[in-house]
Amino acid sequence: MRLVLETCEVDIWPEETPPPRHDLLQRVRDKDGLLALLTDTVDAAVIDGAPRLRVISNCAVGVDNIDLAAATSRRIPVGNTPDVLTDATADLAFALLLAAARRLVEGVEYVKAGRWKTWNLQLLLGADLADRTLGIVGFGRIGRAVARRAQGFGLRLIYHDPAVAHDPAGSSVSLEALLSKSDFVSLHVPLTAETHHMINDQNLGRMKPTAILINTSRGPVVDHDALYRALKAGRIFAAGLDVTEPEPLGPDSPLLRLDNCIVLPHLGSASQWTREQMALLAAENLIAGLEGRRLPHCVNPEVYDLSR
Ligand code: DGY
Repeated sequence: MRLVLETCEVDIWPEETPPPRHDLLQRVRDKDGLLALLTDTVDAAVIDGAPRLRVISNCAVGVDNIDLAAATSRRIPVGNTPDVLTDATADLAFALLLAAARRLVEGVEYVKAGRWKTWNLQLLLGADLADRTLGIVGFGRIGRAVARRAQGFGLRLIYHDPAVAHDPAGSSVSLEALLSKSDFVSLHVPLTAETHHMINDQNLGRMKPTAILINTSRGPVVDHDALYRALKAGRIFAAGLDVTEPEPLGPDSPLLRLDNCIVLPHLGSASQWTREQMALLAAENLIAGLEGRRLPHCVNPEVYDLSR
């Protein structure tokens, strides 16, 4: 914020919750740059309604909230914040994996409710990690960082990513094979038309009844109704979700009534250092765009090649 305030005149949305659509449309109309959060939908109407706009900086690595085609057709560079959140997000995916495997939330609730009477041989039995198989869907930066953590726990690794033919860190398999072979499935794909509801009834049906699903990517990659049915019926063992559809997930979501589902409020990158670095990159992207320089992290670099 300090960097941005030193560089330009700023109109800051003052509320904790994102600007309603009408406010976003109205306030961006006369702006040269937009620094958005992943909760802001920057679609064609927002972009077209801002004729002066010449940079969009998203304070996130994912840019599914931005209509990239609309930005590119206006030759507006879109910035994001890669790399700095890789380790924090992988840490959180692993925290969820361990929490779901060893039923940590149920254990905490059990103690708080005063139900802990004695050590019990059969109390809250969970899943082992060593010599089990972790399937990673999406073997990019964060998927690989999860893979590195998995090695220390003795997990075998398989992955599915059409863009990564071969990687010595694990075996490349089809999505179907990954789902049927894995004891843990961790999702690390961007949200696109292809990955929307990728984890649906059919694919959940391919998983082992003992399997655990972890999602730290984007909520709509998983069909929540299908997930609820699978968890409720014990067709998979548990799920750990850092992202949901919608966000925020309302307190009346049926998923929150299940003991075998852990839901967090999108905390993947929420460590002090990581969020500071994300903010810094977002400010640097914004300022570079406003000053007519190439963005340090641009997701549509083709805007620089388009003939003027
Ligand atoms: C991102 O940057 O896309 C993450 O989801 C934020 O935690």
